[in-house]
Parts: sequence; C-alpha cells; structure tokens
Amino acid sequence: MLFDRVKSLDHILASAETRGLKRQLGAFDLTMLGIGAIIGTGIFVLTSVAAEKAGPGMMYSFVIAGFICALAALVYSEIAAMVPVAGSAYTYSYAVFGELIAWMVGWALILEYAVAAAAVAVGWSGYINGFLHEIGYGLPLVWTAGPGDTIALADGTISAGGFNLLAFLISLFVTFLLIIGTEKSARFTALLVIVKIIALTVFIVLAIPAVNAVNFEPMLPNGWGTPASGVGVLGAAASIFFAYIGFDAVSTAAEETKNPNRNVPIGLIGSLGICTIFYLVVAYAAVGAVGAQPGGELSQSKEPLAFVLRAVGYPAIGNWVASAAIIALPSVVLMMIYGQTRVLFTMSRDGLMPRSFSHIHVRFHTPYVVTLITGIAVAFFAAMFPVAMLADVSNSGTLFAFFMVALSVMVLRRREPDRHRPFRTPMIWIVGPLAMAGCALLFVSLGWGTIRLFVIWAVLGLIVYFGYARKHSLMGKQQAGD
Ligand code: ALA
Repeated sequence: MLFDRVKSLDHILASAETRGLKRQLGAFDLTMLGIGAIIGTGIFVLTSVAAEKAGPGMMYSFVIAGFICALAALVYSEIAAMVPVAGSAYTYSYAVFGELIAWMVGWALILEYAVAAAAVAVGWSGYINGFLHEIGYGLPLVWTAGPGDTIALADGTISAGGFNLLAFLISLFVTFLLIIGTEKSARFTALLVIVKIIALTVFIVLAIPAVNAVNFEPMLPNGWGTPASGVGVLGAAASIFFAYIGFDAVSTAAEETKNPNRNVPIGLIGSLGICTIFYLVVAYAAVGAVGAQPGGELSQSKEPLAFVLRAVGYPAIGNWVASAAIIALPSVVLMMIYGQTRVLFTMSRDGLMPRSFSHIHVRFHTPYVVTLITGIAVAFFAAMFPVAMLADVSNSGTLFAFFMVALSVMVLRRREPDRHRPFRTPMIWIVGPLAMAGCALLFVSLGWGTIRLFVIWAVLGLIVYFGYARKHSLMGKQQAGD
C-alpha cells in the first residue's frame, strides 16, 4: 500500500518529550529569531528584481505576497503549536498524509532551505562586491557572479559571470560555524536584528522625503502578469515572496520554547507582521524616490537599497546600509542551512535519508556530516547561479510546503476535532482554502523555467523515494516486523 505509513501524532509528541532539549526561549526571543530569518536578501536585493518584473506596481506585489504569507503563518501557527517538534512541514505531513507525501514535502524543503541559503549568499555577495569596489579593492568582475548571471560593465555593456567567489566562501564559512556549534547565540541574532531594523529605518527616513509622484508613472508597465510568464505584478509577487519566508524558522525552535502553545503563534505572526510593515514602507520609498521602471537603474542594481540612498544624495549612508547588509545577511544563510540540516536530520532518523546524516560530532555535538554535505552543495549553487533564479526555485518548494501545511491543518480539524489546539486559526474554513489558493496562485505566477525545474525535482524525488527511502524507512521496517 502506498499511503499506509502514517505516524501517529501522539508518537511524534512523545518522542519529542524524551529528546529533552531545554525549554528556554520566550515570545520575544522567538519574534527576534523570526525577524532574524525573514529580513535578508529579499528586501535588500530582490527589490530590484521586483522592479524589473513589475515596475512601480511592485508595491502591490509586496502587499499580495505579504497577505498570502500572513494566511500561511496563521495556519502554520496552529500546527506548530499543536505539534511543537523539529522538522516542520515534513513532520506534520508524516502525521497527516503518511510517508510518501511527507517525503515529497521534505524533498521540497530542500529547495526551501538549501536553495534559499544559496540565494541569500549570492545576495550578500552583491553588497560585499559593491562595497569592495567602492573602496578600490573590487575583485575582477569574473569572480563576482556565476556563469548564469550577468555583470554590468563600466561601459554599459553586459557580460556573463564566471564564479561567484565570495558567495562560495561565505557559504563554507557559515557551514564551518554551524559545525563547531555556533547557532545557539540568541543574543548575537538579536544584535543583528537590531542592525537590520536600524538600516531599514534609516533607509525609510532618508528616502521618503525624496518621494516624487512622477516616479509612480506608469504604474503597471508590465500589467498584472499571466500564468507562468514570471513578469507583471503577480510574477514579481511570486519572486518577492522570498522576502517573507523564514518565519517558519520559529517553528523549528518550538521544542526549545517555554509555553510553546502561546509563544510560537506570537513569534510566527509577530515577526511576519513587523517585517511586512517595514517592507511595504521600504518598497514605497524606493519606488517613489528613484522610480522603478523595468530596465531602469534600480532594476539593474545588485545592491538596490544602497543605490537609492546614493541616488538621493546620501552616498556615505548608502555605504553604511550596505555594510549593515554585509554584516547581517550571513546570519540568514546560517539559519537557512541550519533549518535544512534539521529537516534532513529528522528524515535520516526516520530512515529516509542515509544514517550518517544523523551522526553527531563527539566534540561539537552537532550533526556535522549533514551540515558539511549541505554546506558544500549550497556553496556550489551560490557560486554558479543568479540570485533571482535561486530565489524563485526556493519559492516553488516553499509554496508547495505551505500548501500542504494548510491542507494538513484542515484535515486534522476533521479527523481529530477534539485534540487540544493551543492556537486555533481563526475562520479556518476561509483562511485555510485562501492560503492554499494564494500559494497556488503564486506558484503558477512563477516563470515557466522555474515551474519546470520544480517538476523535474519532484520526479527525481519520487525516484529516490522508491529507489532508496521506502526500502530503508524505519516505519516500513517496523510495519514489516509487526
Ligand atoms: N526572507 C529571507 C530573505 O529575504 C529568506 O533573505
């Protein structure tokens, strides 16, 4: 039978109880953790990609993507508070739909986390390369972008990149930090969150006075967009969705949270809410201050927020905002690789991934094998591909996972109506279907190339499942022994 391997929720909860992670995080820590994972390459870099796709109408894209993410966060909160264990969407699907679907979700989460980590690393490299160039120590251009990426030369022509060296190196450095066990510094995360918030606030305060009504015309140069075209307001929304993801990192810390039933929903919704407000104002200020027509200067910049500040007469502060991005973005890479290793770790413990993935280092107490493999893969992706492509591919996996989470929550409401729900999604029969429809809408608004890559990835996933995972599954072995 294909769909008979379902884990019971009670079993999942009981195994979490025995793992004994210390419950020490509160609502504030979780909100900081969420903001730490959310604000990154999306707002600092993809703003230019959104401008290229939608023009000034990218402001609507920010609203649409934020609204859909808020719906997803509401349903996510219900299941994350109810099943406060590591492994996020993968674990929930195991309980609701069984192993095959859980596998597909876990497989899609590789796109969400690992590919997102690569995207953030490439975004970071845009800022550091720009900064080095400003101070006269720029790398040869061929080392500043991958072969699939483009570089704008001083004479106005465009050339292809070679190898994105700094994106490669930062991914390896972060991997090293994770192996020696650096992820636990909640205080450092909080400090970086403050740096990012100050940078965005300074941006808003300086750019808003420069807003000029002419910069909003024409508002929709590429229209609303058509399915699989990857352009227009919806195409930009599908890309800028990347700016909002990461809030689910909060749920991966659920096992270490005091009173998770109250604090996890606060952390998830609180962090997303705060970021959404910042994003909307930043988008309005960027568009209004310098214009955002496709092919324009904003849309071509690899460090758009710094570009806007330089353009409105604050070059030194523009450099400072660039430095804030340079300091803060590596922590987003770190959180994404961390999230990836925990999902793969959980899958390995279930027997679906090789046993070695859950080996723990004797001295550092970290899952070093899976961290190293993930880190090397991320580094190569970051070295080779452009940020916009990586972000879109990551979004395709995330949208699939969020779709399945919304479905899981609704199925559980029917199947186990009496189970204790510390947080209940309000109006679930409206919010749930809307979240699913929203994810589906953004998914089909991605470009055709991205959708095709997702399908190839899914088929590969099925091959690995039937060729390897299904045979090694612990649950399969237990059932065979029964
Ligand atoms: N939301 C995160 C970012 O924009 C992934 O970098």
